[in-house]
Order: sequence, then C-alpha cells, then structure tokens
Amino acid sequence: MAFELPKLNYDYNSLEPHIDARTMEIHHSKHHAGYTNNLNNAIANTKFENLSIEEILKTPELPNAIKNNGGGYYNHCLFWDILTPNGKAGSSAFISLIEKNFGSCDAMKEEFGKAAATRFGSGWAWLCASNGALSICSTLNQDNPLMESGCNGTPILGLDVWEHAYYLNYQNRRPDYINAFWKIVNWNIVETKYQASL
Ligand SMILES: [Fe+2]
Repeated sequence: MAFELPKLNYDYNSLEPHIDARTMEIHHSKHHAGYTNNLNNAIANTKFENLSIEEILKTPELPNAIKNNGGGYYNHCLFWDILTPNGKAGSSAFISLIEKNFGSCDAMKEEFGKAAATRFGSGWAWLCASNGALSICSTLNQDNPLMESGCNGTPILGLDVWEHAYYLNYQNRRPDYINAFWKIVNWNIVETKYQASL
C-alpha cells in the first residue's frame, strides 16, 4: 500500500506570521510530496512494501533512497501534526513533566533551540521520549530518532531546520525561525505522542 501525502488540518496561510503561506505551500505540496513519491518508488517491489513507516525506519542499514525519502516522509508528517495556528498550551501534567526533565520550560526551549541552531547544514531538532523520560537531540538531513541516528527514543516534537523550511521569510536568521516556532506548537498533540510512546 502506497504512502500518501497527508492533508493539513489548517490552511497554508494560517501559521502566519510565523511561517509564511508560500513557504508552507512549497514545503508541503512540493518537498513533502516529493519525499512521499520517491519513497513509494523506492519501496515498490521490495521487502519494505508492506511495512509501516516506523518499521521501515527502524530497519538497520537502510538503502539510502529509502532512508532519505522515508525519513523525509515521516519527519514532515510529524512536523505538520505538531503545528497549529496560534499554538495550544500543554496540560499542567505535561508542563510538570518538562520541568522534571529540564528544570523549566524555558530551559527545555533553550536546549532545543541550541540543538536546532547548531545543527550544521540541513537537519532536524527533536524532543524525544524514552521510557517516560524526555531528551533533546538533532539529526542530519532527513535522519530521525527512530533510525540509528545517535538519538534515543521516540520523537514527539520536531523542528525542520532545512533552509527550505524558513529561507523565504527568514533568510539566514534561523534563530528567529526557531523562536517563532514555539508560538505555533500544539502541545496537546506532543503530549498525545508522549502517551503513545509509553
Ligand atoms: Fe522540510
């Protein structure tokens, strides 16, 4: 069964001014669609054809085309999922969990922002859950924590720091894009992903 480009739960212009409509349109309808099509082509008539995307990504020594496009498919699905116009605050229980793991929400954001800002070239920053604990890491290109990537756990929040994600609006100002990201995070969905990881 072929993977499908997911429909967004919001309009391309609804994340403005934090992410502009043109960037969203190209990012979803061109970049993510490209990863989806290339993934389907790469797995056609292979042993990966009937696996879930998680099962595919957890397979050791993936062929490059499947790794890059499978990661691109999965990472962008997660990214769209955890965004929402104006953002949604987390529950008090989840805020407590963040405080327990990082000291404070601001400390978590600072560590995440550092991971995102210092990822050289293209990649992603992640908040991961492992046995109930939270951690932060970053990966290169379209790698992600499900792969043998140096990260530990299940990704529950991710930020795309490829230039295609922000360059039209922010040019070289990646830190401004990272700061704007916090205003459109749907913490309800992040918490749902955390619960599912347990
Ligand atoms: Fe992207």
